[in-house]
Amino acid sequence: MPTQSTSPHLPFGENKQADWYGKDIISVKQFKREDLETIFDVAHEMRGMVERIGTFDLLKGKILANLFYEPSTRTSSSFTAAMERLGGSVIPINEVKYSSVSKGESLPDTIRTLECYADVIVLRHPETGSAEIAARAARKPVINAGDGIGEHPTQALLDTFTIVEELGRLENLNVTMLGDLKYGRTVHSLARLLSQFRDIKLNYVSPDILKMPREVMDEVTAKKVPQAEYSSLEKVLSDTDVLYVTRVQKERFEDPADYEKVKGAYVIDPQVMQAAKRDMIVMHPLPRVGEISVDFDDDPRAAYFRQMEYGLYVRMALLAMVLGKA
Ligand code: ASP
Ligand code: CP
Repeated sequence: MPTQSTSPHLPFGENKQADWYGKDIISVKQFKREDLETIFDVAHEMRGMVERIGTFDLLKGKILANLFYEPSTRTSSSFTAAMERLGGSVIPINEVKYSSVSKGESLPDTIRTLECYADVIVLRHPETGSAEIAARAARKPVINAGDGIGEHPTQALLDTFTIVEELGRLENLNVTMLGDLKYGRTVHSLARLLSQFRDIKLNYVSPDILKMPREVMDEVTAKKVPQAEYSSLEKVLSDTDVLYVTRVQKERFEDPADYEKVKGAYVIDPQVMQAAKRDMIVMHPLPRVGEISVDFDDDPRAAYFRQMEYGLYVRMALLAMVLGKA
């Protein structure tokens, strides 16, 4: 429930606001550099408002349907918090087995149902392309909160916001992505989004069976961003500005024996991090299951918990923009 009301002044003009009003957010391919500047400006404003007054009435009367066919802690609860901090409310469907999905209702019909009651739909689904299918069925904006191994665009937006907040730039960066680059949708979105910036170098460190998909690498190549693949972190760690660690996505493996072979392939701990720079950051979309030791959590370079908080402000900005409220 809102604790306070005010009429906040937000920094986007009519045109910028109109650019995103009513739009779906399906892929990072929709975002240009200028869009990121707008989103980050609004996210900053949102942070200030949350710090100053907590909850305000920008989206009063608006309703978000939070539809999750896969587990989530951060994405689901940060969208809920974002909507409620903006004065709106949420229809939570976190356990689709208690909804009519368990009776066999299709995704398009579920979406058509929810848009009768809500102004915006956030969807996480195990199938790649599901967010696009949902967006085609809906007249209201659909936000992709992860479609199988496809994309996780709002994560990549909060990841880039984190890099700017922590390191002060989105250019001239050596970014190393580590772990499950095959099934990890966060790195698919992040590599695509970062490839729009100058002087970015992308290093991919993974076991052989979990390499970055060719399709993503081809898109990055088309943007003329240098990228290289490694199996060992040692070769690149000392030059890395952003180490983006990922969980091996157990739930995506067809053969559990393959998972057993690669789980625990890389573990970041204080000893490993001795070889890294002092002015770099370690990120992780979370949840972690052992790939970053808790012993590293107190290191100032450990940015993964701050990263979660930045997600709230970015998601507040996105909701305000697609609902056209400034
Ligand atoms: N939470 C992120 C995702 O849903 C990363 C992960 O689950 O490992 O893609
Ligand atoms: N980063 C992320 O998507 O976390 P959840 O799976 O907990 O939502």
